[in-house]
Amino acid sequence: MDFQEFREAVYKKRGINLSGYKEKQLKRRIESFMNASGVKDYKEFLNILLNDKDKWEAFLDKVTINVSEFFRNPDIFEKLERDILPKLVEGKRKIKIWSAACSNGAEPYSIAIIMEERFPGVQYKITATDIDENILNAARKGLYEERLIKNVSPQRLKRFFRKEPSGLYSVVPELKRNITFLKHDLLVDRYDTDYDLIVCRNVNIYFTKETQDKIYRNMNRSLRVGGVLFVGATENIMNYRELGFDKLYHWFYVKREHLS
Ligand SMILES: C[S@@+](CC[C@H](N)C(=O)[O-])C[C@H]1O[C@@H](n2cnc3c(N)ncnc32)[C@H](O)[C@@H]1O
Repeated sequence: MDFQEFREAVYKKRGINLSGYKEKQLKRRIESFMNASGVKDYKEFLNILLNDKDKWEAFLDKVTINVSEFFRNPDIFEKLERDILPKLVEGKRKIKIWSAACSNGAEPYSIAIIMEERFPGVQYKITATDIDENILNAARKGLYEERLIKNVSPQRLKRFFRKEPSGLYSVVPELKRNITFLKHDLLVDRYDTDYDLIVCRNVNIYFTKETQDKIYRNMNRSLRVGGVLFVGATENIMNYRELGFDKLYHWFYVKREHLS
């Protein structure tokens, strides 16, 4: 069995579409995982993955990379808070937000902190999704190591977190109230509609250009006209016009027209 056949088998058996990921990077990650497990052959590796739940989960972790933290790139979150969100909520009582590939939940909780603090009169619903059920369970728990909250101000820490006897920090129930964590694969599942804001950061870098464009097109259809797509610090959408967006500012694209 070669790498392509392995990819196809993973899709067939487990519904994970690895063909949208950049091949060289993905192969390197998978082969280093195989080496660490003492396996040389793709067929043998597939058998192990399909029969050992822990191995399968460790494999998914390796493939998907779920590093995240609160207010990742704090200057960009400040831009969101000061310039982007005030315009988005103007004249509205309710907004609908999607944090796609939300990992451990630090990202949707960061947005909830901003909404609670800066826009207390606006109702908000955040759908926070990821492909990885384990990381979603961690996100639902909302327990974090200190290093993940280094960008949280002392005032916010006091209001929105509790220090647990274990030394970890838990988010207060107020922050969980408006967030729903759901499993969603950006390459396979259908996208919901009518979002005012979609936050999709630090996941598209793992996908091929073709897959990235497909995701941005789907996100265009998922936003309402005038809604905003917020991407990662190193992600620059060059062909944003043909994807139906205008550029508002670095990392923020506004839906100009609905793609058919
Ligand atoms: C590096 S984290 C980014 C987390 C957060 N958005 C941030 O910027 O801090 C990438 C996340 O993408 C998720 N992911 C990878 N492939 C995915 C896919 N096909 N669909 C949905 N999520 C995916 C991973 O499970 C991981 O949690």
